This record gives sequence, structure tokens and C-alpha cells, in this order.
Amino acid sequence: MPPSAVQHAGAFAIAIMAAGKGTRLKSARPKVLHEAGGMPLLAHVIAAASQVVAVKDIHVIVGHQAELVRAAVEHTGVRFVLQAEQRGTGHAIMCARSHLEAYENLLVLSGDVPLVKRETIEKLRDFHLARKAAMTILTAEPEDPFGYGRIVRATPSSDTVKQIVEQKMLKGAQQKLREINSGIYAFDARRLFANLDRLTADNPSAEFYLTDMAAILMKAKARVLALKAPDAEEVLGANTLAELAGLDADLRFRKCQALMDSGVSIYRPDTCVIDSEVQVGADTILEPFVQLLGRTRIGSNCRVRSYSIISDSQIEDRVMIKPGCIVDQSHVASDAVLGPYSHLRPASQIGQGAHVGNFVETKKTKLGRGAKANHLTYLGDSEIGEGVNVGAGTITCNYDGTHKHVTVIEEGAFIGSNSILVAPLRIGKGAYVAAGSTITQDVPEDALAFGRATQVVKPGWAKERRQHKQKRTPSAT
Ligand code: UD1
Ligand code: MG
Repeated sequence: MPPSAVQHAGAFAIAIMAAGKGTRLKSARPKVLHEAGGMPLLAHVIAAASQVVAVKDIHVIVGHQAELVRAAVEHTGVRFVLQAEQRGTGHAIMCARSHLEAYENLLVLSGDVPLVKRETIEKLRDFHLARKAAMTILTAEPEDPFGYGRIVRATPSSDTVKQIVEQKMLKGAQQKLREINSGIYAFDARRLFANLDRLTADNPSAEFYLTDMAAILMKAKARVLALKAPDAEEVLGANTLAELAGLDADLRFRKCQALMDSGVSIYRPDTCVIDSEVQVGADTILEPFVQLLGRTRIGSNCRVRSYSIISDSQIEDRVMIKPGCIVDQSHVASDAVLGPYSHLRPASQIGQGAHVGNFVETKKTKLGRGAKANHLTYLGDSEIGEGVNVGAGTITCNYDGTHKHVTVIEEGAFIGSNSILVAPLRIGKGAYVAAGSTITQDVPEDALAFGRATQVVKPGWAKERRQHKQKRTPSAT
């Protein structure tokens, strides 16, 4: 259908039902906040919906742990409707009535069906408008239809639907029905609201089922149609944690496919865990068992070696991340080298071409361009200038038990191995700190600072000791 026809059809709203508890997951957390692909299920549905209508026209129906659900997705800008008591999917729409009545058309999505794509929602909308239906149900034929509502078509070849029968209510030959209700619908809002009060809670769950609208509208001589999704996977829900793990695997597979299509090499995609919002530039290589989480962005021509976990961080181009690094809420400039086994804690900023090596931990630390901290070091609350060399075993003592203090090391300084830098402290430009020093006072530019006991050498002492010992304990033979 051409876009103009869609526009003529009037304003569209999307209602997302997200008030249910999800009893079958046996979890205290609301089902729609369980995550797949690194995002709550509901956030996936909102992301797809907001590609179809403006966010101000998305109404999320919340109820069970409403405040928690609202807080998790509030940043998206959607509107919220409260269904204080959860008395079924039909009741959810009743609660949203005053928010939705002003629209001419309504798409209803389920907060626990997260894989649905924008294209599929648009197809449903366009089919619904073109056929002037009162209700169009997105259906599918999965391998195992158990647990879903089933579609009873008027005749097997017609796309008119007579009714939807929930799993619990299937009788006789209905048990064999394979076409399921996805929980995603398009409605002519006027016809929906004119008939909504006809729903009853006359079923084993004593709930108002939105699915009953199919039979009600049919009886009112309105057109009720089914549109089958070509890919059943896309409309699968998750009623158990095992099914949720399946959705998660699907989303991550999709993500790896999309990255590989855009020029990223992933050596064993089945072993990598990449969240939906992660971005990776072309010609970057991801080795097996890499995790890229949250809002991480990685540039092009990087290599992330095995067992590295990067969350909410930005990595620029040509960065080498050797095995076993953990990077959290940090920024790494181009050409830097991390690892193996580096730990970048929040607010670490690694400069261009800088090196952070084996068992080095940084926190709230800026490492200047080309600076190096290659071995066994802790750098916390510090500012380290360009080209500084931090020797093995250096530790910034940033915490006095009450407050955190800053260590500044100016450009070109050289910190000898095993130095203890007691903050607050400033090491001047180009200064040297002798290995094994405990430095408690500022070191001026170009100076050398020693902070260690003077070495004492006693010639022959060891030999004398051995002889003395031998005299006191003569041998047994
Ligand atoms: C529903 C459909 C079923 C369909 C399946 C697809 C009904 C009666 N059945 O069953 O035909 O095959 O989805 O996944 O609709 N919700 C509310 N308020 C409530 C109850 C539920 O907002 O009072 C929300 C839930 O949070 C969920 C969605 O509506 O996001 C669907 O509810 P759920 O309990 O999962 O229904 P299903 O048994 O899956
Ligand atoms: Mg469900």
C-alpha cells in the first residue's frame, strides 16, 4: 500500500501490554524486565514500536511492579497506563481505553514477544488497512504450538477468523490446530471500543481475554482476519526461563549476523555474547568467547582477543585488546594496546597508542598518549601525562580510609618499578622516581626522587654465619 493510503487511514497508536506477572517464569522479577540480547524484553518491543509510530503514541500498560517496569523504560519517552489489578489482556485494554479512544487505529503488542520486527508490524498495519478489517491477528505456525491460543479460521483456505481458543480451552479436534495467535493485533479502534464491554471473564482463569474479541467482532458482522508471519521464530514468546534462553540465543545470533554483514569478522559467533545495542566498525576481528555488553562502541580495525568482556565502553580504531581484559565504562583511544588481563574500571581514559599490560588495574584514571603501564600496577584517581613510563608493580595509594586523593604524573616522567605513590601527589614533568620508592612528597620537574632505605652491604657475613652454624651442630658421622 502506498504511504499516502496509510496516512489517510488516520492516527495510529500502539498499546503494549506489559502489566502481567509472568507466573510461569517462577521469578520475582516481572517477566517483561527479564533480559534477552542484553535488554529487557519490553525494551525490544518499544524499540520496534518506535520505528512504526512516534513515541508519544506508544502507550505501555503497566501493573505488576509498575514502578520498576516504568523506571526501566522511562528514558524511551513512551506513555504509561496503569492496570492496577491484572485481570487479563482484555482488561488491560479496558484500562487504557481513555488513552486510546481518540485514535482511529490501534496496534496491540505484547511486552513478552520481543523478536517482532518493524517490517512485520508495518505489514500487519498495511494489510489491516487495505482490507478494512475490524481486527487483524498476526499468526504463525511454530513447530510446537503448545501453550499458545489457536486460530480457528472460517474455512481452512479463508483468512477470516472465527475465534481464538486458548490452550486451556481447546476441545477435541481443536487440539490439532497448529496456527497460533502471536499476541499482536491491529484494530479499528472505533469497532474495538464499541464492543469491548462484551468481554466476559467466563473462562477457567476468570480473566478478560482480549482474544475473545475475535468471536465478538465476528458476531457483530465485523471483519476479523489472520495474517500469518512468514517466520514463526519472530513471534515466539517465552513462558519459561528455558524458552527465554532460546530467545536470547536468537537475538544474539541475529546481532552477530548483522555485524558480520557489516564487515566485522567473528571467528566463532556461537561463543560470543553481544548485546543488541553494541556497535562495531568494519574490519574489526572478534575472537571466540568475547562479550560486548550494554552501549559499547568499538571502532574499525580493532582486534578483541578471547575472553575479554567490554561493557558500556568506547574503543576507537585499531585498538588491540589481548586475551582476558575487563573494560567497564571506559574510553580507549586509537592504536592503544590492552592486556593480556588488564582491568579498566569505570572512568578510565586510555590515550592514543598507550599500553596497559598484564594485571594492570585502572580506575578514574587518564593515561596520556603513548604512556605505558605494562605490568602488575594499580592506577586509581590519577592523571598520567603523555609518554610516561610506569614501572612494574607501581601502586597509587589513592585512599586514606576516608577520602580519595589524586596522583598527577606529568608528561615524560619515569616511575621505577615497585614504587608506592602516596596521594595527593604530583610528579613533575620528566622527573624520575627510583625503583622501590615510597613517595609521599611532590617531585619537581626533571628531579630524581629516592624514597627507599639505603642499601647496606656486609662483606663475608653469609660465609661467617654458615661456619658459625657448623661449629654449633657437628655432623653425626
Ligand atoms: C496470550 C494470548 C494467547 C497468545 C499468547 C502469545 C490472551 C488471553 N492469550 O497468552 O492467545 O497465543 O499471548 O504470546 O491474550 N498482560 C497485561 N495485563 C494482564 C495480563 C497480561 O498487561 O492482566 C500482558 C502481559 O504482561 C504480557 C501480555 O499481556 O506481556 C500477554 O499476557 P500473557 O499472560 O503472557 O498471555 P499468554 O498466556 O502468553
Ligand atoms: Mg505470554
